Amino acid sequence: MKIIHSIKELKQSLQVERESGKKIGFVPTMGALHAGHLSLMRQSVKDNDVSVASIFVNPTQFNDKNDLATYPRTLEKDCELLEAVGCDYVFAPDESEMYPEPDTRIFELGRVAEVMEGAHRPGHFNGVAQIVSKLFEVVEPDKAYFGEKDFQQIAVIREMTRQLNLPVEIVPCPILREADGLAMSSRNVRLTNEQRQKAPLIARTLKESTTFVPGKSVEEVKEYVIRTINQDPVMRVEYYEIVDGKTLESIREWSETEEPVGCITVFCGEVRLIDNIKY
Ligand code: PAJ
Repeated sequence: MKIIHSIKELKQSLQVERESGKKIGFVPTMGALHAGHLSLMRQSVKDNDVSVASIFVNPTQFNDKNDLATYPRTLEKDCELLEAVGCDYVFAPDESEMYPEPDTRIFELGRVAEVMEGAHRPGHFNGVAQIVSKLFEVVEPDKAYFGEKDFQQIAVIREMTRQLNLPVEIVPCPILREADGLAMSSRNVRLTNEQRQKAPLIARTLKESTTFVPGKSVEEVKEYVIRTINQDPVMRVEYYEIVDGKTLESIREWSETEEPVGCITVFCGEVRLIDNIKY
């Protein structure tokens, strides 16, 4: 496995691979890798001849300076983990490599970028679109792998690639969970022991709520989820929306969509956790 820091060098290496007919799979990450990230890389290794991971903590997508400053950085360990699952190239640029000058582009990605995370984290998806479009331009992958943990991010990236006509297939991958159901996340390490004990309440409640469908209305299921999680004093639901999995618009009736998805954000103490479930 090669670890590359410069765009020029990565482009040269991948050009050689492409010229010999190899298909390229790509897994963009911000590092601090866990089994969820590695499952994306495993899928890429299965589907493609050459697999590339990027590790870059992208400053333009953080709307909270403290979150950026405290984001875990574990490059050496990450590279060991990636190598063990068959990754061929790790691209680990520094900030000046990705942003030699400020990126002033404003993406107009429509409703999928405005609702939920878009409303609560202003600028976040614009930053994601900036970095992922740059990374796609550098790697030129045939397929790119994204986790359904960040359900809305996938819709945003699909819209970005559609608008820019990028010839990449976006491949969604299932959420990996801890044994107690908590969705794996690089931010889970910030939970105190007590918070870590309590955090599985989120996934447990979401799962339980699927058994109420279709007997209870959308509104009743939403209220149940919010009330149950907020009953715990260390938890505070920021939002819970049940949306159409394609448009991400909130639904009122189950019959409005073939693909209802419940998307939640919860503060567990100071730590902002996200999760989702298909109904
Ligand atoms: P990051 O949070 O590091 O996540 C990288 C990829 O891993 C994303 O596609 C995310 O959805 C996926 N992932 C995270 N936790 C997962 C889990 N428990 N199960 C399955 N997949 C999981 O998402 C980003 O980085 C950034 O926004 C990025 C796309 C790299 C742009 O900077």
